[in-house]
Amino acid sequence: MNPWPDQFPLFPEAASTVAGEVDAIYFFGLAVAAFFSLLIAVLVLWFAVRYRRRSEDEIGRPEKAAVLLEIGWSVIPLLILMVMFAWGAKVFYHVRRPPENALEYYVTAKQWMWKFQHPDGNREINHLHVPAGQAIKLIMTSEDVIHSFFVPEFRVKQDVLPGRYTYLWFQSDRPGRYTLFCNEYCGAEHSLMIGSVTVMEPGDYEAWLSAKEPVAGGQQLTGEELFSLQVCDTCHKPDSAARAPMLWGLYGEEVAMADGSVAIADEDYLRESILNPGARIVKGYDAIMPTYAGRLSEDELLQLILYIKSIGPEGDAEVAAAPAAETEADAGSGDEGSTP
Ligand code: CUA
Repeated sequence: MNPWPDQFPLFPEAASTVAGEVDAIYFFGLAVAAFFSLLIAVLVLWFAVRYRRRSEDEIGRPEKAAVLLEIGWSVIPLLILMVMFAWGAKVFYHVRRPPENALEYYVTAKQWMWKFQHPDGNREINHLHVPAGQAIKLIMTSEDVIHSFFVPEFRVKQDVLPGRYTYLWFQSDRPGRYTLFCNEYCGAEHSLMIGSVTVMEPGDYEAWLSAKEPVAGGQQLTGEELFSLQVCDTCHKPDSAARAPMLWGLYGEEVAMADGSVAIADEDYLRESILNPGARIVKGYDAIMPTYAGRLSEDELLQLILYIKSIGPEGDAEVAAAPAAETEADAGSGDEGSTP
């Protein structure tokens, strides 16, 4: 179709598992629009000739109602649009919902760079490497303004917002290097906020990871170090003396709140609880935690959340029975099946 794909690329390569689906619905919409544009243009010209005024004193005649025709041009477009709606909704849900087994990578955007963290803690700037044949979930936030993560070959795009986490997933089975664009005007060097996503065979990825310098980010503290440096551990203790909710095994569980509501302990909940602890109080505890807003950078916040996610429920069965931890233990048990 395109004789010069390299010099004059008309359409990006389809390099993710959802790209085919997205393209199919895109071309369907394009075909419908082209067909009706052509139909209307031809009818306009034809009617202009067919029903032109033929003499100076000609006057129009009252038209006859064409009921079938009118029903036809209402019902047929409705059916076509309903097909677009149902099909679009199906593709949307597929593209928006990360598979359960997705590997989690963290993305922090700032003017004007992309910072990445691998599941094993390794970091990169602007150039992300991922394994092929594996669903990749990105958990993204911004340190300043709104950016947008866009890889045309994967057909995925998601705004990256300050003050909250947004998510995006993709899976590529085609090793190669794909260009990452910032797709939201974010200041003077927006057009230079370009990086890449390199998809590697799983074996190559493992080799690349182990050959890589452990931490590219310099003297960044780990979440565990921050947890004790910020003295979180004086209140959030895994024992009965705790004055604050237990964090062990908390991630992903439902938490009962003092106001009777229930929260899911996801990244946004942990983030809010650190920056604005008074917003939602866990049932059975006092609102005594100070805010950490302004005391942690986005990176540090991310490390803390990663640490809280990593401290699993194993090894604290005896702690769960302690009185102070009762509310949380109750909230966490009995609903394992319903946790998404
Ligand atoms: Cu970041 Cu545009």
